[in-house]
Amino acid sequence: MNRSENKPVIYLDHAATSWPKPREVLDAMQRSMLEEAANPGRGSHRMAMNAGRVLMRTRTELGRLFGIANPSDIAYMSNTTAALNQAIKGFLKPGDHAIATMIEHNSVRRPLEYMRREHGVRVDYVPVDESGGIDLDELAGLCRPDTRLIVCNHSSNLLGSILPLADIAEIARGCGAKLLVDAAQSAGVLELDVGKLGIDLLAFPGHKGLLGPQGTGGLYISPDIDLVPLIHGGTGSQSEEADQPSVRPDRYEAGTPNTVGIAGLGAGVRHVLREGASAIGSREWQLTQKIMERLSAIDGLRILGPGLGQPRTGIVSFTLAAAEPSEIAFRLDRDYGIAVRAGFHCTPLAHRAADTTAKGALRCSVGHDTTETEAESLITAVREIARFASR
Ligand SMILES: Cc1ncc(COP(=O)(O)O)c(C=O)c1O
Repeated sequence: MNRSENKPVIYLDHAATSWPKPREVLDAMQRSMLEEAANPGRGSHRMAMNAGRVLMRTRTELGRLFGIANPSDIAYMSNTTAALNQAIKGFLKPGDHAIATMIEHNSVRRPLEYMRREHGVRVDYVPVDESGGIDLDELAGLCRPDTRLIVCNHSSNLLGSILPLADIAEIARGCGAKLLVDAAQSAGVLELDVGKLGIDLLAFPGHKGLLGPQGTGGLYISPDIDLVPLIHGGTGSQSEEADQPSVRPDRYEAGTPNTVGIAGLGAGVRHVLREGASAIGSREWQLTQKIMERLSAIDGLRILGPGLGQPRTGIVSFTLAAAEPSEIAFRLDRDYGIAVRAGFHCTPLAHRAADTTAKGALRCSVGHDTTETEAESLITAVREIARFASR
């Protein structure tokens, strides 16, 4: 048991999925399941109407969080991966050119590589330096007349680095391309206003910083973009038509949605709106600084990503000369009840940038409710493991 918080573990794997969720998320899901989880948009009875209202309310709150004027421009997806696939495969056409960065998650890289292999899309990747930064001139230099899409994450899931979205958006606009942002690590912890930043497509998870359950997420689609839907089927609207409706969000939401999950996501988003994404993010930043400062004093330990004092999200990844990441993760779990993630984090190109392709790295990621005491327990545990390993 976590000695201080009465949780079964010290959970430092928030970059994968946040846990525990705020109490109100559980309550909203239970209420939804007990009282209103009929099929929204498919019937005119009271329960179906109430389920529809849950979907609309959460959509409106997501719109408030991301500065989206029309909530119908947000389509629910089952996770960030589904949203990125819909955006990439629904937007690019044979012969198009796309640019991504070398720190993209496989959820960006694999759909892009699929489009290259199967649909003749051309793709370039802009290099990334050791701390996760890109050279904006180098990015601009890759733009060509046929460049239609620039894709990048807001924050790297290995390095915690943050990309300058407003500058990237300006480059995209300058070459007539659209900007797709993977907000898997930033939604709920960094300011994210699609209008102010100039984002055309935003893929986000519900189950990480927005504190909703797994199986939730979404895609913002700017009103001037018409994506080819990846899923065709029933929407409860224009049922007599053989074609997928053009009306949003139905166009991208065929099939029964995850009403109970979206009820929970709504409660998570309200929690974030109440606390403020930047307030949550800056508290997480303070914790990462403490962890970095103390871990970097350990012999043979190398912290990846931006240096102390630099902007980053709640991720601290490191390597230790005396022990492999998987061994440290195993010992943290077995001997200290600390949950972290070792390996390649679905982002092999970022490991190339960090020079950790041989054995990967160990990633600790803090979340909205991580305490100083929990950070302290991690530091003590890593110090003990390092001392034991170097004997
Ligand atoms: C940067 C990044 N992109 C995409 C994903 C995929 O997210 P999901 O698990 O919601 O599909 C992750 C997951 O960790 C991520 O960190």
